[in-house]
Amino acid sequence: MNAQPIDVRDMRIVHETFRRAYSEGAELVRANPTPSPQRVDFLADHLEFGLMMLHNHHESEDEILYPLLLERAPEQAPDTERIEHQHQEVAGAIEAASAAGREWRRSPSPETGEALALSLEALNAALQPHLDDEEQTVVPLAARTLTEAEWESVGEHSRAGIPKDKMSIAFGMLLEPLNEDDRNFMKKGLPAPVRLLYPILIDRPWRKYRDTLRNGT
Ligand SMILES: [Fe+2]
Ligand SMILES: [Fe+2]
Repeated sequence: MNAQPIDVRDMRIVHETFRRAYSEGAELVRANPTPSPQRVDFLADHLEFGLMMLHNHHESEDEILYPLLLERAPEQAPDTERIEHQHQEVAGAIEAASAAGREWRRSPSPETGEALALSLEALNAALQPHLDDEEQTVVPLAARTLTEAEWESVGEHSRAGIPKDKMSIAFGMLLEPLNEDDRNFMKKGLPAPVRLLYPILIDRPWRKYRDTLRNGT
């Protein structure tokens, strides 16, 4: 048990991106289910990337966070296990959305587009209560029972799964929904050289990507 709880706010912060990514994806597909081939590829790649990030996030929790919590706080095991098991339902929804994305990419039509949008909404519906439970129950337990290094290793594991050439996009997506405080907190975690070159390394590529995402046809 920690005398002082460790800082675990990054879990809630990362969740904010996941909380809106899939409903936004559904909206973008519905806005034009039969766009140009380039647009189909761009959007299908974007959705696949968003699904992969969530998969990575849960994998890090499954491999590091939940086993540590079960070891540190066995008396909380029923809650911890219940919440971890929600990952399975979410994983099924991620798989279904990936398959719908592949189908839409192969054959874009109002029908495949709507099937993709529905699968993204189904994922969102399975995901939101899991994020709530994790933030309310699991994260405070981690704050009391894990070391900073252990907590940090969960985030490191997730980041390691992001391809280098997608880092700026991932970080841009992460920062976008945040308020000033949370944004500054996340920026502080960047390596100093990246922080220094933030406008060029992250902000510029992210803005270009974001404009294509929101305004591309
Ligand atoms: Fe999480
Ligand atoms: Fe989780």
